[in-house]
Amino acid sequence: MQPDQKEIFRQAPPDRGASSFIYPPTADNIRFFAEVLRQGGVVAIPTETVYGLAGMALDQAACRSIFEIKGRPLMDPLIVHVASIQMIDDLAEMSSTVERINEHFWPGPLTVILKKKPVVSDLVTAGKDTVAVRIPRHPVSRSLIRELGAPLAAPSANPFGYISPSTAQHVASSFKGKVPFVIDGGPCEIGLESTIVDLTPGDRAEILRPGAVSIEELEQALDMPVVRKVVSISESEAASAPGTMHRHYSPETGLALFEGSSIAGMAGKDAALFLQRPADASAGNVFWLSETGEPSEIARSLFAMLRKLDDKGFDQIHVQLPESSAGGVLVAVRDRLMRAASSK
Ligand code: TXA
Ligand code: MG
Repeated sequence: MQPDQKEIFRQAPPDRGASSFIYPPTADNIRFFAEVLRQGGVVAIPTETVYGLAGMALDQAACRSIFEIKGRPLMDPLIVHVASIQMIDDLAEMSSTVERINEHFWPGPLTVILKKKPVVSDLVTAGKDTVAVRIPRHPVSRSLIRELGAPLAAPSANPFGYISPSTAQHVASSFKGKVPFVIDGGPCEIGLESTIVDLTPGDRAEILRPGAVSIEELEQALDMPVVRKVVSISESEAASAPGTMHRHYSPETGLALFEGSSIAGMAGKDAALFLQRPADASAGNVFWLSETGEPSEIARSLFAMLRKLDDKGFDQIHVQLPESSAGGVLVAVRDRLMRAASSK
């Protein structure tokens, strides 16, 4: 049943934030939004990675609304967010590796792919026999899931293919009223989507999407090989996991990537975006992601900066790419930039 969210709203008007669809995470509002979700509604929620568009994972109508609002193809499965490893046990086949992941990384910016149990619908998994799960650490998503007592399916709260949102305002501006409720949890601490690791092979962990939990950290924590699954363009176009699709996370303005410090073909109405403040920052239209080049700051500011520059109407944005030899979260920054700049 489609909920009448306006009706719910009339019954219990929550404490409104400054902007029409954005609400502060007060205890009353958390209770209210848990009720909206219980009735099959969709709510945009903060997590430490990016904002998510959340609905009850075990409610098919709610999940269908998520796909519709996002304009997301049904072949692209959703991540299920839970508050504890016990909640995962209800949804997926557990293993000692999941326990280890829990000890080392949860709650946190890591998603694992596990063999699903029958309770998880084909809609959530796009017909696959696996499910993606994660325990987020943002206090607002945690308290909402606890209040609800049920898992939440939540893709990033951006229109399909566009840049993921790292503030409540990003969500509100992209969806312009299509999402009735956005809970404001502040700017996201990490700013890039979670690392996704496929544990279904059993004898190795395959990284499907790099994120803030790095390959190096996973190698240290797990007693099995950790491999980066490289998806070629043609393979990814037919991919069963389109998050690995080549073109993704893209601004409207064209991106041109450069390595090192020399920008080729910078024209008058172009912008240049550096990872770190360049020695000569006096030229016009020069921007940077971090004063000092600190990797987590680069990651945190990337999506907000791409949105900001996208709104300025430049002809093209030249973006400095982290070196291919860089480790840690810069692997994820490089991945997102290559996808955003790809024409396919
Ligand atoms: O940080 C994050 O992961 C954010 C926050 C909201 O938690 N969520 C997020 O969701 O980035 P989304 O839907 O934008 O990206 C999830 C990716 C998709 O690309 C999807 O293809 C992949 O996870 N995925 C989901 N289930 C999968 C499965 N069973 N097998 C392989 N890939 C899967
Ligand atoms: Mg996404």
